Amino acid sequence: MQKITRYEMNNNEMTKALSESLTWRYATKAYDPSKKISAKQWNLLKETLRLSPSSFGIQPWKFIDVQSASMRAQLAEAAPMNKAKFEGASNLLVVARLKTISPEYMDNIFAQFAAGKGIPRENLKNFETFIGGHIAAKSPQEQANWSAQQTYIAFGMFLMAAAVLHIDATPMDGIDPVKFDEILGLDKTEYGTIAALSAGYRDPNDQFALGAKVRLSTENVFKIV
Ligand SMILES: Cc1cc2nc3c(=O)[nH]c(=O)nc-3n(C[C@H](O)[C@H](O)[C@H](O)COP(=O)(O)O)c2cc1C
Repeated sequence: MQKITRYEMNNNEMTKALSESLTWRYATKAYDPSKKISAKQWNLLKETLRLSPSSFGIQPWKFIDVQSASMRAQLAEAAPMNKAKFEGASNLLVVARLKTISPEYMDNIFAQFAAGKGIPRENLKNFETFIGGHIAAKSPQEQANWSAQQTYIAFGMFLMAAAVLHIDATPMDGIDPVKFDEILGLDKTEYGTIAALSAGYRDPNDQFALGAKVRLSTENVFKIV
């Protein structure tokens, strides 16, 4: 008899849950500060970032889990338009990306890859040369942009997972990255802030939860060839 996988068994439920989550989620504007995400679910959400795909697997990101209340207060001041979310959310992450992708950084990535896959480093030689050339052909600004693009994929994974778990979240680039870097001490590192993510549970009075989800039409967004 063919083995039924867990996925097949729950396929209908999963499809329903995913479909419902897409409209349930919204960029939360006001949180209920008394409601906290459990440590287990928060760690799972953080795993969506760590396990995200990235071009060539370079993982050019750093996620700062802001647990210090005083640090959170300082960051809120550097994000005036998003202050309420910074203050009310259960959890807060700052999302940073590599400003340039150095040969030393890539050396570490390849070393980890070889060790993790249990293969000799020499086997990666051609792969390393190819990727090294690809990165070297980019200007520092292009490298920074490319890193940011990878990081936004992780961002999206987090938002989708949060929605499925019925945890509210807000993606935020309405922040002052320069001030964030100073506050977090990132200005002395190879990483730079690009955005922030808050997560928690919506304030039942948040009017933004009630409005219709407005998007371009399916016909407009997709082209079928
Ligand atoms: C990269 C990015 C940055 C955003 N920055 C902010 C922000 O700083 N403040 C905010 O309230 N919403 C922010 N949003 C939320 C968008 O305004 C929101 O996703 C969009 O209007 C669609 O609405 P919905 O997410 O509620 O469906 C951001 C969204 C993304 C993807």
